[in-house]
Amino acid sequence: MRGRMRRRSPSVNALDPPTGCIKDTGGRTCRPAHSPGLTNMESVLILGATSAIAADVARLYQRRGARLFLVGRNHDKLRALRTELSPNTVVGHATADLTRCDESQALVARAIQALGGLDTAIIAHGLIGDQLQSERDFAEADRILAVNLTSVISLLIPLANHFEQQGSGHIAVLSSVAGERGRPRNYTYGAAKGGLTIYLQGVRSRLWPAVGVHTLKLGPVHTPMTADHPKNRLFAHSPEVARDILAAIDGGVGEAYVPWFWKPIMGTVERLPEPIFQRLGFLSGR
Ligand SMILES: NC(=O)c1ccc[n+]([C@@H]2O[C@H](COP(=O)([O-])OP(=O)(O)OC[C@H]3O[C@@H](n4cnc5c(N)ncnc54)[C@H](OP(=O)(O)O)[C@@H]3O)[C@@H](O)[C@H]2O)c1
Repeated sequence: MRGRMRRRSPSVNALDPPTGCIKDTGGRTCRPAHSPGLTNMESVLILGATSAIAADVARLYQRRGARLFLVGRNHDKLRALRTELSPNTVVGHATADLTRCDESQALVARAIQALGGLDTAIIAHGLIGDQLQSERDFAEADRILAVNLTSVISLLIPLANHFEQQGSGHIAVLSSVAGERGRPRNYTYGAAKGGLTIYLQGVRSRLWPAVGVHTLKLGPVHTPMTADHPKNRLFAHSPEVARDILAAIDGGVGEAYVPWFWKPIMGTVERLPEPIFQRLGFLSGR
C-alpha cells in the first residue's frame, strides 16, 4: 500500500533532519486555516507531559520557541522536566490525576488563561495496565478504560469547544496501533485506544477544516511503558517518535502511523481474514 509522502514544514526542518515520513491514512488531511506551528510563539498545552514521548515533544517545542503549560501526575517527574526546560518556555504547570474527569474543564481553562490563549493541545497520558488482570477483575479493565479513553474524552470536550469557538488550532492525541485489531495480548488497552481513534474521527469532522485534529497511531516505543516488554526491531525511539508527531501536526495529517511503516503493517493485519488471523500465533496468541 502506498501512502502520500509529506515534506516536513519549514519549522520542523529548522530542527534535526527528518527520521521518517508521515503518511496520511487515506482519510481527510487536516489543513487548518491558521497554523500556529509556523510561528515562534505558539502556546502549547501538554497533558501527560511526564510521559517519555511527551517530554521529548516538549523539548522540541522549546527549541522552536513555544510557550508551554505542562500537566503531569507525578510531581517529581514534572519538576524535573520543568527544571530541565527554560522558565521562559514553561509558563505554567499543574499536577493532576487526569482520571478526575470532573476537574478536566477547569484544568483546561486554567491552562488557557496561563498561556493567554491556546494554539495546540497534546494529550499523551496512557496506561497499558495488566491485561490478564483486566480479564478477571472489572476494576482493572475500568482503570485501563478510564486512563486511555474516558479521561481523554473529558479533556477533549472543553478543548474541542475552545478551538471551535476560536476557529483555529490543533488537537493531537497519542493513540496506538493496538486499537486497530483486538489481540489477546492487550485487547483491553486496544479497545480503549480504538475507541479513542473513533472518537477523534468524529471530532475531526466536527471541527473541519479550521481546527486540525491529529490522531497519532504509535507502534511500540522504547519508554517506561514498554520497559518489561520483549523487544524487537520494530520498536522506535522516543525522540524520533516526537519528531514525527510534530511533523504530523505541522503537516496537517489527520491520522498518522508513527513510525510510518506501521501503516502497511496494520493495513495487512486489519484485512487478514479471521481463519488466517487465528492460525498466526504471533498475532492471535498471548
Ligand atoms: N510506548 C509505547 O510503546 C506506546 C505505543 C503506542 C502508544 N503509546 C501511547 O503513548 C503515550 C505516551 O506513553 P509513553 O510511551 O511515553 O509511556 P510513559 O512514559 O509510561 O508515559 C505514560 C504517562 O501517562 C501518565 N499517566 C498514566 N495515568 C495517568 C493519570 N491517571 N493521570 C495523569 N497521567 C497519567 C503517566 O504518569 P506517571 O508518571 O504519574 O505514571 C506517564 O507520564 C500513551 O498514551 C501511550 O498509550 C505508547
